Amino acid sequence: MDVCAIILAAGKGSRMKSKYHKGTHKVCGKEMINILIDKLKKCGVDDINLVVGEYRESLIDVTKDKSVTYSFQEQQLGTGHAVLSAYDFLKNKKGNVLIFACDIPLFKEESINELLSVHFKEENSLTFVTSVLDDALSYGRIIRKDGKVFCIREAKDCTKEELSINEINTSLYCFKIEDLLDGIKNIKNCNAQNEFYLTDIIEIFNGKNKKIGTICADKNEVVGVDSRKQLSYANELLRKEINENHMNNGVTFLNPESTYIDMDVKIEKDVIIHPNVCIYGSTVIEEDCEIFSNTKIVNSFIGKNTKIDSSVIYDSKVGENTNIGPFAYLRPNSIIEDAVKIGDFVEIKNSTIGSGTKISHLSYVGDAVVGKKCNLGCGIVTVNYDGKDKNKTIIEDECFVGCNVNLVAPVTVERNSYVAAGTTITEKVDSNSLAIGRCKQTNIENWVIKKFK
Ligand code: UD1
Repeated sequence: MDVCAIILAAGKGSRMKSKYHKGTHKVCGKEMINILIDKLKKCGVDDINLVVGEYRESLIDVTKDKSVTYSFQEQQLGTGHAVLSAYDFLKNKKGNVLIFACDIPLFKEESINELLSVHFKEENSLTFVTSVLDDALSYGRIIRKDGKVFCIREAKDCTKEELSINEINTSLYCFKIEDLLDGIKNIKNCNAQNEFYLTDIIEIFNGKNKKIGTICADKNEVVGVDSRKQLSYANELLRKEINENHMNNGVTFLNPESTYIDMDVKIEKDVIIHPNVCIYGSTVIEEDCEIFSNTKIVNSFIGKNTKIDSSVIYDSKVGENTNIGPFAYLRPNSIIEDAVKIGDFVEIKNSTIGSGTKISHLSYVGDAVVGKKCNLGCGIVTVNYDGKDKNKTIIEDECFVGCNVNLVAPVTVERNSYVAAGTTITEKVDSNSLAIGRCKQTNIENWVIKKFK
């Protein structure tokens, strides 16, 4: 497909009241600019140029892995001038270019495909997206004559009568590159804002009998984000859509209004999600899991039929048939294998916990490898930090570590051994052994009676 894209992103977006570019603000977990870039790529448009200006550093930073190119618009003299700033990107190209504003995160892939398909089918010089709003606010109005688009009039330049029109311009266009380059150099800035309006190209095209077509999108798809209030509204609309999609795919939500799921999360069927759950990033949850209230899962994988209650999980992998929580904290790089129990007030960091192991209460396991079918009692602590370095604890398969044990790393407890409660382990424990490292108990008879006589 001979289509490239330009995203106009040089505007200040000053109503966001932010030190970062508007396009870097996230909707359901992803920066608005990257939502647009990813959708374009899914539609087969890979050659993408961003016109950047104010706050460009933050915008370039969040898009640096997206294989896009940049044009610079030093002064923001209007959308027509912004497109001219991308002249070098366009000048040797044939075919067609999509030109999108950067702040329309809800426009769907299907609608991008529809825009392209109408553009090709009707062989238009320009096809663009309109919408019909109850309150057209400051959007440019579509002025039609005999049904055909005559021009787009910016709200500030409209007569009272024109302001009552509620078909608006969304700033989503598809142009034949040749016609765009020919027309754009004739745009002037004689208007209320002294800006070079891209929209003026319509009158120029009409003067040259170039074909112009439109598609009309649902008003919820073209919500523009220009303020924190609109950002919150876009989040609300997209969140609702995401949750509905999961429900349509067989996921139960006890209270979708209080469930926050990012756009790239994958959830399989027959998962049950209780109220007040947040699932972020690239998390995958396999079928039959149950996620109870007050759980936050970020960029993690959860295997089949696992239950997670009131817990926080970052960048980790949890196996099948496992129970996590209540009140567990899995920090990055934790691998919890199958049929494991991680109970209340247990923190795991950068550790692997083998299948069938239980760490049921009040423990810290960091930088450790714990084997299969172990039982780690209440209050065990891997003493992984010596004030300078992080050290590793290895507990091999089928070990029993009693309550209140400190394992001073680096240290290994070999397979099938026991560590007595209250022991501080500083040396290797050989397999099949009992390690006991505490003072022998002494009972002094009648000590209390003598003391308080
Ligand atoms: C523009 C349209 C208007 C439409 C509205 C939809 C024009 C003249 N008007 O309005 O018809 O209803 O979008 O949102 O095109 N930008 C630059 N450089 C500039 C100016 C803008 O890159 O010099 C970028 C902005 O970053 C933004 C996009 O162009 O992504 C649209 O600009 P914005 O100021 O939001 O819209 P308007 O120009 O008011």
